[in-house]
Amino acid sequence: MCGIVGYVGKLKAAPLILEGLKRLEYRGYDSAGVMVCQDGKFVLVKKAGRVANLEKEAAKVRLTGHFGMGHTRWATHGGVTDANAHPHISSDGQIALIHNGVIENYISMKKFLLTKGYQFVSETDTEVLGNLLAYHYAKEPANAEESRFVSAVRKTLLHVEGTYGIVVMALDAPGELVTARKGSPLILGIGDGESLVASDVSAIVSRTQSVVYLNDGEIAHLTPSSFSITTLAAGEVSPVIDKVTWSITDAELNGYTHFMEKEIFEQPAALENAMRGRFSEDGSTANFGGLNITPAEFRNMDRFMFCACGTALHACMVTEHLIERFARVPVECDYASEFRYRNMPLFSNTLFFVMSQSGETIDTLAAMREAKRKGYKVLAINNVVGSTIAREADGGIYQHVGPEVGVASTKAFTSQLLIGGLLSLYIARMRDMSFSDGVQFVQALKGAPDHVRTVLMQAEHIKGIAKRYAKYRDMLFLGRLSLFPIALEGALKLKEISYIHAEGYPAAEMKHGPIALISEECPAVFFVSSGEMFHKVINSMQEIKARGGRIIAIATESCQLPDGLADEVIIIPECHEAVLPIVATIPVQLLSYYIAVELKRDVDKPRNLAKSVTVE
Ligand code: AGP
Ligand code: GLU
Repeated sequence: MCGIVGYVGKLKAAPLILEGLKRLEYRGYDSAGVMVCQDGKFVLVKKAGRVANLEKEAAKVRLTGHFGMGHTRWATHGGVTDANAHPHISSDGQIALIHNGVIENYISMKKFLLTKGYQFVSETDTEVLGNLLAYHYAKEPANAEESRFVSAVRKTLLHVEGTYGIVVMALDAPGELVTARKGSPLILGIGDGESLVASDVSAIVSRTQSVVYLNDGEIAHLTPSSFSITTLAAGEVSPVIDKVTWSITDAELNGYTHFMEKEIFEQPAALENAMRGRFSEDGSTANFGGLNITPAEFRNMDRFMFCACGTALHACMVTEHLIERFARVPVECDYASEFRYRNMPLFSNTLFFVMSQSGETIDTLAAMREAKRKGYKVLAINNVVGSTIAREADGGIYQHVGPEVGVASTKAFTSQLLIGGLLSLYIARMRDMSFSDGVQFVQALKGAPDHVRTVLMQAEHIKGIAKRYAKYRDMLFLGRLSLFPIALEGALKLKEISYIHAEGYPAAEMKHGPIALISEECPAVFFVSSGEMFHKVINSMQEIKARGGRIIAIATESCQLPDGLADEVIIIPECHEAVLPIVATIPVQLLSYYIAVELKRDVDKPRNLAKSVTVE
């Protein structure tokens, strides 16, 4: 969950680390810390609160060292205090550590270390690991074959249950960093006379575009001019150096106030990027490069299963609707966190998909591993190139929308919807969809960016609605069929960034309970499209109106809403069923965004959340 950055090289480490922490802050923002080694001493500054706090504190201290590390924390063990912030220094003063993840057996380790005289100043699991490292380091004999430092880290990690991405410094090993991972992402940056490590490429890319993605169970040893990787079992690893294809400006605000705002307005271009090169030459179906499964194998699948969390699960639910509707193949969706434990009976001839913007969500990763363990092929729909999920999947589809920094997912979601549409077209065309229906489908998908532009032009109108509705404490989001998951997404967006209680329901389900909430104090957002559900949705709206509830209708342009039924109307273009969920999403993103701004919330870093959830 947290952000990690480490540097060894020719420059002063602290400014680079602080810059990296600012880029990583969206990963966790309970506290932050920076440490360098200089004049034979660790110099540490750490503070509860944001990186900006840390920066102020750090400005008061002389930080000149050329190697060091920094951390932004998303607290799991121990409150949000200065003492619990990372880095942690072992009680013998020899080892310093930053950590992302959870050490599950830290209590027994702590008991053992107390008997050996180690002391603790924080409530974290991380400090226990730091002291265990110090214990092993102190016992480690000088070994000609391998650095004493790496060997001690390896021995320590063999005792650890849980997850970690760690960076370790040893007082008597100046200019060296040791880093290791199990379940939490770490990327090495290979520069010119300098080496870096971070939990996310965005903290590295201003220094180098040459990166190595560390795998679970690997330990890396970094110096300014070299790096080497071994496994926990001391096996040699031949690293592959990858090139990052985006530059640092992709992860900057470029004139917008918030990343969420930038990412909402970036969606037409993001959708174009997500569909580029993805249509067949004859213009009647989709084309994917990295599925690693033959069309014949695909054709033989009787069923598809999708697992994901949060927003990505909502994209899976829309995809379920589209595949069943157009390809007539049964699809099942599940929360990744439930699937991994419920030992679900599975059919043969089932193809698994996981969806994850970050590609690091631990629940999704675990669901994927469980499916693979049961012998299923798993394909991943994922945005972050080189992420753990992308690397462990048998194949997949990249979203190609560039870095998404806002904690509330926007452009990643609509690109997942687009890929869901492409996938349903691909499967449908293998089965019963005709050439001409396929051509129509392709044209419709190609038109999605323009439809999104049209809705974005109503931003000022939606801002006005947001100002009027920011005072409410509860809100319902209601839609049917493929717009039901968009109702869930609308409610999630509003909750996440404005802290207003919101629920998403299928519109007709509302009368089975949630209608009890309806009063003048609880407005409802309805998705209304022309077509078979139109009159049914109007009935649900009438039921709310009859009970004094206010209504915001997000309606396609040909819908003739009865006069006075909706208090506010946002018109969206008529479009193909596969495009409608994308277009209907834009107003709820804008509505949530402007309500949160009106309420002066911290839009890009909402309380208690983190961008990628790498703990269970
Ligand atoms: C999105 O707005 C949320 N912050 C969250 O639900 C997110 O979608 C979920 O944690 C899954 O993340 P992933 O796509 O990176 O796996
Ligand atoms: N478990 C550690 C803590 O609570 C690390 C949390 C994190 O990943 O930020 O300090």
